[in-house]
Amino acid sequence: MNIRHLACIVSALLVGGCSSSTSSSNPTSSDNSNLPLVAFAQANSQDPWRQVFDRDTKAAAEKYSSAFRFEEQEAEDDVSKQISEIETLMVKKPKVLLVSPVSEAVQSAIDKAHADGAFVILLDRSVPGNNWDVYVGGDNHEIGRQAGEYMAKKLNGKGTVLMIRGIADAAPTKDRGNGFLETVKKYPGITVITGDDCGYQRQKARTYMENFLQQHKAFDAVYAHNDEMAIGALLAMKDAKTPKKVIVGIDGCQKEVVNYIKSGDIDATFSYPQPGPKGVEIADAYLKGQKPAEKKVLLPTTMVIKETADDYLRANPNLAG
Ligand code: FRU
Repeated sequence: MNIRHLACIVSALLVGGCSSSTSSSNPTSSDNSNLPLVAFAQANSQDPWRQVFDRDTKAAAEKYSSAFRFEEQEAEDDVSKQISEIETLMVKKPKVLLVSPVSEAVQSAIDKAHADGAFVILLDRSVPGNNWDVYVGGDNHEIGRQAGEYMAKKLNGKGTVLMIRGIADAAPTKDRGNGFLETVKKYPGITVITGDDCGYQRQKARTYMENFLQQHKAFDAVYAHNDEMAIGALLAMKDAKTPKKVIVGIDGCQKEVVNYIKSGDIDATFSYPQPGPKGVEIADAYLKGQKPAEKKVLLPTTMVIKETADDYLRANPNLAG
């Protein structure tokens, strides 16, 4: 335990908060201190998908502000920061801990929170083991499978795909990769180059693609584990005036990516539904004594391509910019 972490715990005990971390609680905190606490440990609040995630989760929690207090801490995709934040939140004895883990390496803190009595709801990224109560999120293996089928059709069963990966040790990275690889294996004409882990970040994928292009390896398509990395790869290819490649991403949470699909720069994305509102609803039901029937609540995906882009924009008016 480092000094900052110790200071956070002491501060949490004395005044109910740690001033140096990003946190929020609903505004009626002056008169709600007797309400149970629902704590949320978020992986990061920086990228577009997480900004929508935070917005929707806070809005959902606000609806239940007479039933529980809500507090969030975000970890900038840093495993040790998240472990320390979970420990700090647990000092406040939340009844429910919502966690979107940075990666599977956060498992030890989740195991401990569960052993200490919190009802643990994992959002979006899961962890191994069984020391959690509910998982809410997309079916990443299925998304990888659908992306693989789309890619194989788009390439007429023949070509080389560069796969740009997310955070190495995060469950969606493994599942999106495996679902895709298992599917394209059925097409002997398709070869996959397993690219670097670019942390789900646009700039890392852009730099990776700039370097990859300098190696002059032939490739026909890019499968990126999220849209931010698909856009990063696209921008590097535009800078280098690389002839058009097939590009497939995941998330569908930004108007920017839908516009690239409309212009034909990106071919498809698979929506990755926001798990926050459902997680909050499950938290509220748990506080009222009900538990969901299934341990895994899987939310559906939608494929977005040029032909469906306008309908998708109409059906989803609240996408990020
Ligand atoms: C955001 C994000 C999304 C992705 C999800 C996977 O941090 O990288 O783009 O779909 O996390 O866990």
